[in-house]
Amino acid sequence: MARRALVAVALAVCLAGAAAVPMSAAARPRPSKQLQRPAAAATTTTTAAAAAAAAAPGIEVRHSVHPESVVGLTQADLRRHFLVENLFTPGRVSLTYSHDDRMIIGGASPAPGSPLPLPSGPEVLAKAIGQPSFLAQREMGVFNAGGAGRVVADGETFALDAQEAIYIPQASGPAPICHHRGTKDVRFESTDAAHPAKFYLLSCPAHARHAAAKINARNATKAVSAGSAAASNARTLYHLIVPGGIESDQLTLGVTHLANGSVWNTMPAHLHDRRSEVYMYYGLAPDARVIHLLGEPSETRHLVVANEQAVIEPSWSIHSGAGTSAYSFVWGMCGENRALPDVEPVAMAALR
Ligand SMILES: *[C@@H]1O[C@H](CO)[C@@H](O)[C@H](O)[C@H]1NC(C)=O
Ligand SMILES: *[C@@H]1O[C@H](CO)[C@@H](O)[C@H](O)[C@H]1NC(C)=O
Repeated sequence: MARRALVAVALAVCLAGAAAVPMSAAARPRPSKQLQRPAAAATTTTTAAAAAAAAAPGIEVRHSVHPESVVGLTQADLRRHFLVENLFTPGRVSLTYSHDDRMIIGGASPAPGSPLPLPSGPEVLAKAIGQPSFLAQREMGVFNAGGAGRVVADGETFALDAQEAIYIPQASGPAPICHHRGTKDVRFESTDAAHPAKFYLLSCPAHARHAAAKINARNATKAVSAGSAAASNARTLYHLIVPGGIESDQLTLGVTHLANGSVWNTMPAHLHDRRSEVYMYYGLAPDARVIHLLGEPSETRHLVVANEQAVIEPSWSIHSGAGTSAYSFVWGMCGENRALPDVEPVAMAALR
């Protein structure tokens, strides 16, 4: 009897906590694109709430685009829908929510000595995620494209050198009736004053908790040498968060390095109708660019992509590119399955 009463009280507390999220979201005026007012516009009187609001970045929302619509888009529209710029603004966590497989694409570049928290709390997350903490119902891959740093996830510290990655699981804790309460506190830190870390983030919805794990090119699940210098596409792919290595609910992630003198990635192209993908290009000189190809095979379009920018690649779109020099890119996917061989090759003769 006492136990039943205790469970009822716990459940009531859980529900009250959950209900508070949509209610507070509905009570706020509805901003158009940015979910959070700019810090300068915050007028909250309670100091804790004001501090949280000032520190919290907005989450930019990108809606899905039908392939037929892409045909009539201008360059500016293509960039607005598919290109994610300004990932690594010093001292900020930048987040873009894509309705393609509900991926969240982000960057965190902490100033040395000033840890940056992953945004949490209903002020930031209520509308986009509907959960009190970022990872309550999500998993996340983190790849460090900058100098040495650390990621602290619920008190566990992962030292992350340049080019290393970690998988951070969904936060469900041991209490099944109140799992959304599982506080997943994630912080990003730079440890090399001369070279700040640049943590690239890719998060997918997740419904089960897997083990946190760190991985790098030296112990990648698979390393694949592909292409050739003659075809200007000699490159090495490292499978980091993939089946048979690090388990996840939906997320797969890896990194590809082009050899000097090689510029092409993923040509011949392919599609994977059951997964969306994001490329984050890095390792480019300031004036170097990648001409990234997207669109249906018969109606390709291009984006001119600079260093440390990401491209959203819906399931109907090819994703390929040629650089003005060699580069690296992090590839990551969310979707119906994690089966890397589940791709449809696109014949060169089909490309337009
Ligand atoms: C890979 O190596 C790093 C050390 O460089 C280690 O911390 C990590 O646990 C290893 N990961 C796997 C999956 O073996
Ligand atoms: C590519 O060339 C640059 C400059 O010539 C050099 O610094 C770099 O180490 C080379 N990278 C590889 C992977 O050989």
